Amino acid sequence: AAPTDHESETATISQGAVEKNHAGYSGTGFVNFDNVVGSYVEYTVNAAQAGTQTLTFRYANGTTIDRPVSLSVNGTAAGTLSFPGTGAWTTWKTVTKDVTLAAGANKIRTTATTENGGPNADKLTVSGVVDAEAPTP
Ligand code: GCU
Repeated sequence: AAPTDHESETATISQGAVEKNHAGYSGTGFVNFDNVVGSYVEYTVNAAQAGTQTLTFRYANGTTIDRPVSLSVNGTAAGTLSFPGTGAWTTWKTVTKDVTLAAGANKIRTTATTENGGPNADKLTVSGVVDAEAPTP
């Protein structure tokens, strides 16, 4: 199956705002995480079958300081992701990670682990067996 895009602006946002003030994003905007520990963006990804898939997060970080997040899949910790500076808030780069998805709906959560919050989050692209965007809960 073709990779599917999951725009951050349609994900579940705990603390953050959908913004459009830095060009180059896909969809209708990006998520600016609040600059606090614990702010998260959670994507719902519907997989046709269980298995390992590659997650590709597109982001911008206009600072020189990493904006790491912890990753969880269906509530289970799945490591951390580093989002180093991209040089400008309008320069978007990608970070990838392989995870195991269950068949059906999967909750993929990225949670800021520093007081700077996460990076500006554009979208999550999921490889492989993913079917379609699950309905918004
Ligand atoms: C700036 C920038 C935001 C960014 C924020 C941050 O305000 O315009 O897009 O999210 O810095 O440091 O998180």
